[in-house]
Amino acid sequence: MSVAESYIGKPTSTDASLVVAGERHELPVRKGSLGPDVIDITTLYAETGHFTYDPSFTSTASCESKITFIDGEKGVLLYRGYPIDQLAERGTFMETCYLLLYGELPTKEQYETFCNLITRHTMVHEQMTRFYTGFRRDAHPMAVMVGVVGALSAFYHDSIDIKDPAQREMASIRMIAKMPTIAAMAYKYSIGQPFIYPRNELDYSSNFLHMCFAVPCEEYKVDPILARAMRRIFILHADHEQNASTSTVRLAGSSGANPFACISAGIACLWGPAHGGANEAALQMLQEIGTVDRIPEYIKRAKDKNDSFRLMGFGHRVYKNYDPRARIMQKTCHEVLEAVGHEDDPILQVAMELERIALNDDYFVEKKLYPNIDFYSGITLKALGFPTDMFTVLFAIARTVGWIAQWKEMIEDPSQRIGRPRQLYTGPTERSYIAIGDR
Ligand code: SDX
Repeated sequence: MSVAESYIGKPTSTDASLVVAGERHELPVRKGSLGPDVIDITTLYAETGHFTYDPSFTSTASCESKITFIDGEKGVLLYRGYPIDQLAERGTFMETCYLLLYGELPTKEQYETFCNLITRHTMVHEQMTRFYTGFRRDAHPMAVMVGVVGALSAFYHDSIDIKDPAQREMASIRMIAKMPTIAAMAYKYSIGQPFIYPRNELDYSSNFLHMCFAVPCEEYKVDPILARAMRRIFILHADHEQNASTSTVRLAGSSGANPFACISAGIACLWGPAHGGANEAALQMLQEIGTVDRIPEYIKRAKDKNDSFRLMGFGHRVYKNYDPRARIMQKTCHEVLEAVGHEDDPILQVAMELERIALNDDYFVEKKLYPNIDFYSGITLKALGFPTDMFTVLFAIARTVGWIAQWKEMIEDPSQRIGRPRQLYTGPTERSYIAIGDR
């Protein structure tokens, strides 16, 4: 059976014709439930001896998926068909995790069972605490996350056989449950405080805040407004189609690598400032701008082709309209700043004025550059009490469920094979070795 024939949805019709070297080839067009149709080119090389060329995948669908849909022109984001604003405003992060993993919102009983399962796996093997002492205290916490998450496969041998559905399920639960614990430990280690164990009576977001900000010497009460903000931030960042880090996880998983190693690869990719590292970079940019009167200088730099400076937190490969997550993040930002008494934080004033100016500037309007989720998340996370270098770690905690859901979907896809892109080769043609004395 060819790859094309093994696809889950059969080609609907042969609507695309391609003439290569004077020969016409008919290519099936496949329709999804939402979004652009796709031209199925799985047999193109066999038929024409040609590859397609799309280095940053601007026009390439790398897979079929039923998990998340983005309409970049309309600024729409759906998790399994549910709009992100409804989930963020009305649901919990555990509901979103269940939805992304299993495709439906849980019943009350399913929800309670799932939450209890996650709660029971929030602790890490006690010996993992020794990993941290191998790092410098000033190590970037993302470096710690890449190392410690990758090492999970050394501890949980009973959930790395990806062919066993029960082990895939257990690895998924363990990843979602343990990421906040590992992240909080990275933060505590960086500030020289003792690790705080998870508390089974707390919900996911409150538990994370407690592990980060509690100390053994006194009781720590989680502020419900901050816990709600944390929950919303987790929901907003949970999944986002085939972004760079998710594509990394899928490609790593296509070789049969264990799920912990795949998630570690996703964390490494997310760290980049063009991707998940943008929230850290956006706050640093706002702090560098400092005051409203310096905004025009930075707008000018962002528009200067000879200057590599970009407005961090602006622009997106897919959204050519306002990122729907950014709206909710802006609202959450105001709520948190008010709750912590920083509603007049000058950084927020700079951010709001920068957004106003950019949204009225021809350069940004023509290029459809709008604020993305990272623009306001940095200010919010700083107000929650996190240091800047923890921002992308929080993104990684949230995105773990998306990475895992996409990884599971790929593993369970009957047409799945190892990902192996080809290339346009423009290097030297064959030539013979020359002894060093003759060069
Ligand atoms: C995330 O993919 C996802 O889904 C990612 C994400 C997720 O949830 O997984 O949404 C999370 O990564 C959000 C994006 C965070 N990154 C940033 O905020 C960094 C700043 N943004 C840019 O680096 C950029 O906009 C990207 C990387 C986000 C998108 O890059 P593209 O789609 O490759 O766009 P591009 O670089 O081709 O830019 C198109 C034009 C260029 O000008 P021209 O060459 O056409 O003249 O717009 C310009 C760019 O110079 N441009 C910017 C700009 N972003 C793009 N100019 C100034 N400031 C910016 N921020």
